[in-house]
Amino acid sequence: MGLKNLGKPWSDRFEVGLHPFIESFNASIKFDFLLLQEDLDGSIAHARMLGKTGIINADEASQLEKGLNQIRLEASQGVFNADQPAEDVHFAVENRLIELLGPLGKKLHTGRSRNDQIATDIRLWLRRKIDEINFDLENIQKILLGHAEKNLYTLIPGYTHLQRAQPVSLAHHLLAYLEMFQRDRDRLVEVKSRVNTSPLGAAALAGTSLPIDRLYTADQLNFTSIYSNSLDAVSDRDFAVEFIAASSLIMVHLSRLSEEIIFWSSEEFSFVKLTDRCATGSSIMPQKKNPDVPELVRGKSGRVFGHLQALLVMLKGLPLAYNKDFQEDKEALFDTVVTVRNSLQAMSILLEEGLEFSLDRLGSAVESDFSNATDVADYLVSKEVPFREAYQIVGRLVKLCMKEGILLKDLSFDQWQDMHPAFDQDIYKRLTPEHVVASRISQGGTGFAQVSAQLENWQNQFSSLKE
Ligand code: ARG
Repeated sequence: MGLKNLGKPWSDRFEVGLHPFIESFNASIKFDFLLLQEDLDGSIAHARMLGKTGIINADEASQLEKGLNQIRLEASQGVFNADQPAEDVHFAVENRLIELLGPLGKKLHTGRSRNDQIATDIRLWLRRKIDEINFDLENIQKILLGHAEKNLYTLIPGYTHLQRAQPVSLAHHLLAYLEMFQRDRDRLVEVKSRVNTSPLGAAALAGTSLPIDRLYTADQLNFTSIYSNSLDAVSDRDFAVEFIAASSLIMVHLSRLSEEIIFWSSEEFSFVKLTDRCATGSSIMPQKKNPDVPELVRGKSGRVFGHLQALLVMLKGLPLAYNKDFQEDKEALFDTVVTVRNSLQAMSILLEEGLEFSLDRLGSAVESDFSNATDVADYLVSKEVPFREAYQIVGRLVKLCMKEGILLKDLSFDQWQDMHPAFDQDIYKRLTPEHVVASRISQGGTGFAQVSAQLENWQNQFSSLKE
């Protein structure tokens, strides 16, 4: 208490130093040091602009750029790190620049505020992370496509209400996830278009009286546009909410896939076997193999949904323009990116090396139920029986079978005929699961012809990307 606050740029304005606890409460360097590269990129663009516009001279601009590159080098050697005695990454860089260049270092922050600086850094960082996640999504899509290609004719029970409904091609089931991940990718591209706008030059909130050139810095940093309103530029975090919302949907999709793998691998379903690469044993029950990977992915989805909620609540009451509350966006964004990327990677490894479909078990599963009942009704419809009547007739047949403990295929021809004279001998071949699946010829249905057309579309999409 009472110490002069010498370490701060505002030390001439203040009488006493910060309380040490408040100092560390306020500080963000422990996490925002992650933005060092982007902070240096933004500062280099800013320094060049100061030189180009004549706000500082060309030699000074190039000295600043050299100093900033020196800091980049020191960071790569591990000597410039998050242990700097600075509040945040911006001050850490500025302090070091002043150490390196003397009074010239004090010119870097001309016409700029940390408010537009952090808004720039976070956008540069997120833009890169969006590309990385997009790549991870494409990778998992390709792995799923590989399984789909091998399993066009593998059948799996299809469910509604988790009750056996109608058999489907396993490829069809897997391609549904490719569709979800494609929507995720499309959403990320859209979010990126809004991340890719430059706030740099908005200064603290109102712009600056210096003749800066915002289009020049935007161009240097490969932004596609600049914010039109300086207040909006420093206080907009919509892009962060949009990104975490898009990430939440990625986690929803991963979590649904996880849930399926978890019950597919249970004794009760036994549709897949977990290999030793991604499963774990129990500490007490020697017979067990646990699906930890999909369980963790399913569990981690909650963190990302939590970050979305945190950002919405953080923003909802904030007046224009910058408020320190914004500092809370960093850890939410950083953890979202780590969680989504790790989950995508773990799930990709699981799909590639961690599970095998149990073809025998899938084959017997689709043979042992009444999931061909709709097809019997459709058969009657083709013989001009109205659907509602056909539906009731099949309901009676199912009841009869259940009473006798048999399946539809086990009914005698007389039993079919007794129920309705429109039944012919060809009813039997309509009952096989292969026939049931093949007959789903409507667009987007599970019929083999439809699914192989979908497979081809995906193959084309991925091969055209290579060209
Ligand atoms: N660490 C701050 C943040 O994350 C940087 C901007 C600080 N600006 C300010 N006026 N205190 O938002």
